[in-house]
Amino acid sequence: MARILNFGSLNLDQVYRVDAFVQPGETKSSLSLTTHCGGKGLNQSVAASRAGAEVWHAGMIGTDGDMLDQKLRENGVNLSLLERSSGVSGHAIIQVDNSGQNCILLYGGTNQALTEAYIDHALDAFGNEGLVLVQNETNLVGSIIQKAHKRGLMVAINAAPMDEKVFTYPLKLVDWLIVNEIEGAAIAKCEFEVDILPKLNKLYPNMNVLLTLGKRGAVCVRGGEQARSGIYLTKVVDTTAAGDTFLGYFLAEVLDQKSLQDALALATAASSICVGVMGAADSVPLRAEVLAAVEHGTLGKLGEWGGWR
Ligand code: RIB
Repeated sequence: MARILNFGSLNLDQVYRVDAFVQPGETKSSLSLTTHCGGKGLNQSVAASRAGAEVWHAGMIGTDGDMLDQKLRENGVNLSLLERSSGVSGHAIIQVDNSGQNCILLYGGTNQALTEAYIDHALDAFGNEGLVLVQNETNLVGSIIQKAHKRGLMVAINAAPMDEKVFTYPLKLVDWLIVNEIEGAAIAKCEFEVDILPKLNKLYPNMNVLLTLGKRGAVCVRGGEQARSGIYLTKVVDTTAAGDTFLGYFLAEVLDQKSLQDALALATAASSICVGVMGAADSVPLRAEVLAAVEHGTLGKLGEWGGWR
C-alpha cells in the first residue's frame, strides 16, 4: 500500500463566484461567497487518501482551523502530526468565473510557521518507508527535501505556486516532480513545451516527472518509460483542486505499483469528476465513485493526448 507523509499547506478557501475576474482598478460585486477547505497540501492529502493510500498530514493550523482538521479526519488521514498554533491559518481568496476557471490569492498564515525541530519530529514518527510530499505553499521546503532524502524516503514536490524559492530547493534529490507546463518550463528554463522533459532529464537525471497540460491531458516519465493521456470532456463548474486530485490519485497508484498508464487513467477520471463540483477538497471524488464512472462510461470517452503547444 502507498504510504505518504505530506508536509502540506492547509487553507481556508474563501470562494467568490464572479461573472468575470475583477480587473486592476475595478470594484465589482460577486455573485456568492462560500468557505471551503483547501490548500494544495490538504487537497492532495484528501485525494491520496480517497484513492486508497495511507496518508499522514504534517502541517500547522491556527485557532480558526477546526474545519481543516475535521476535513482531513473525516477522510481517514492520519493527523497525529498536525500542529496547532495561536496564529491564523493559511487562507485563499478565490474568484471562480462562469467558465469554471479560477484565480487565487494566498495568505500563508501558519503554513509558513514550520520549524526544523518539527520536521525532524514528523520524520522520526513516520519512519523510513514511503514517500514525503511537499508543495511550494509552506516554509522550509528545501530542508524537508534534504532531510527526507537523507533518511532514504522518496520525495515528491508539486512546485506550485511557482516562484523564485523553487530554484533554491535541492531538486536533484527529488524522485517525483509534479508540475504544469508553466511551472515545468520555468524549472527546465526553456521556452517550448516540447523541450521541458528532455531539459529536466538533463538537469536532473534521476527525477521522474508528471507534467499536466490542462485540457490537453498529461505526460509522465519514469526512467526510460513514458506515458500520456488525454482528458474526458465533462462539464466544468470549478477547476479548483483538479490538479491536486490528479496528483493525489496518480501518486497513490504509482506507489501501489500500478503502471504509469493506469495511474494516469485513474487520475484523469478523478480530476474530471472534481471539476464538475464547486470547491476544493469537497470536490475530490471517492475511489469507488471514480471506478464506477469509468466502468459505466458516465464520463464519456477518454480523449487522445492533445500534443505539445
Ligand atoms: O490547488 C488549489 C488550492 O490552491 C486551493 O484550495 C487554494 O487553497 C490554493 O492553495
